[in-house]
Parts: sequence; structure tokens; C-alpha cells
Amino acid sequence: MGAVIINFKAYKEGSGKSAVELAKIAEDVAGRCDDYIAVAVTALDLAEIAKEVSIDVYSQHVDPIEFGSHTGRINAEMIKEKGAKGSLVNHSERRLKLADIDFIVSKLKSLELTSIVCTNNVSTTAAAAALNPDYVAVEPPELIGTGVPVSKAEPEVVENSVKAAKSVNSKVKVLCGAGITCHEDYAAALDLGAEGVLLASGIVKAKDRKAALEELVGLR
Ligand code: G3P
Repeated sequence: MGAVIINFKAYKEGSGKSAVELAKIAEDVAGRCDDYIAVAVTALDLAEIAKEVSIDVYSQHVDPIEFGSHTGRINAEMIKEKGAKGSLVNHSERRLKLADIDFIVSKLKSLELTSIVCTNNVSTTAAAAALNPDYVAVEPPELIGTGVPVSKAEPEVVENSVKAAKSVNSKVKVLCGAGITCHEDYAAALDLGAEGVLLASGIVKAKDRKAALEELVGLR
């Protein structure tokens, strides 16, 4: 039993009506298992989904800004107002500078929002843990979207990331992601010491998304 955070990315299947449907599936499955299931959705879908479901809803990104003259940007206050539990920070597909990650983690904390800082290897995981986020999530970029699970293909990255993060910050929770698709991949991640997984395509793009999520958490 662990955390399963589903990143809807900008997949067609993860946006608009289809995103609302998927969030409802996640809510339904969450009610039938002991795992913590949450979703990370686009800024455009955030308000609607946060209203529609009782599970935690995260933003996929926030910009490192205060309110002010910043065109086309969103800040942590805005996602909080829309009902977000927190945000992914520094996803491989939306990288940030170190100072910006620090700013966002502190800002989310000051607003009592949860931060999930994504990293790409063991040393960046340790560096991210030092910024004191709630979670770090290590995802080797070359495995993202491949269906080749990090927990099987690069178990040492998961194991060593857990050790490195905890040695820097014993309170930080460690997730892993990239290629996680089925229960075996998830269970392997937990066995390696991760507290859960951050995943996307295995659920968002599955033909039967409900069945895929049920299988992931061991309900099938
Ligand atoms: O944020 C999760 C992600 O980058 C992993 O993607 O499709 O390999 O599960 P995927």
C-alpha cells in the first residue's frame, strides 16, 4: 500500500471531459483500496476536477512568481484558490532553475499546499530533498512514456534515491516514476523503499482506464 499519483500531462485522454471522467475513475478506485490515489491535472481542468471529486487534485506546475505583471503565468495562490492540494514541481517536461524550485517549495509550504519535486537521478533527488518538499519523485527521463518500468529497469536508481533523500531529509517521502504500468511495477517500487509512484501513460492512455488502475493497486 502506497501512493499512486496519476499525472494527466497534456494527453488528449487527460484533458477536458476525458480528464473529469478519469478523475472520477480514480476517486472510485481510491474508495475501494487502501492506497493514496491522487491526480495531477492541467491548470485549465483543475477547478472543475477539484469540485467534482473528493480525492486530492494537484496542479502539474506553478510558476515561481508572486501576483503581478506576469502574462500567461499561474502562481501557487491561484491553484490553492481553485482547490488544489498542491503541485508537481520541476517535472522533466517542465524543468525549473534551482532557485525557482526553492521559491515554489517555500511558497507552497507557506500556503499549506503539498509539493512534489520531480528529479532525474540520485544526486538531484538528494539536492531536491534538501529543499524540504513533502515529496521527491525520481523519474529517469529516458524511461518516461516507454512502458519500461524504472523499478525493474533501474532498481538501483530507486533504491539509491530513497537512501540519498532520507539521509538528507528523514521526513521527505520518495516516489519513483517512468514506465510504471502494472501492479508488479508498483509493488517492485514499494519493495525498493519508495513510498509510491508517479505515473501517466500506463493509466491515462490505457484502453480500459478503470481496469488498468484497478490492476495497478491490486484489485484485479
Ligand atoms: O509524471 C509521470 C511521468 O513522467 C511518467 O510517465 O508515462 O512513463 O508513466 P509515464
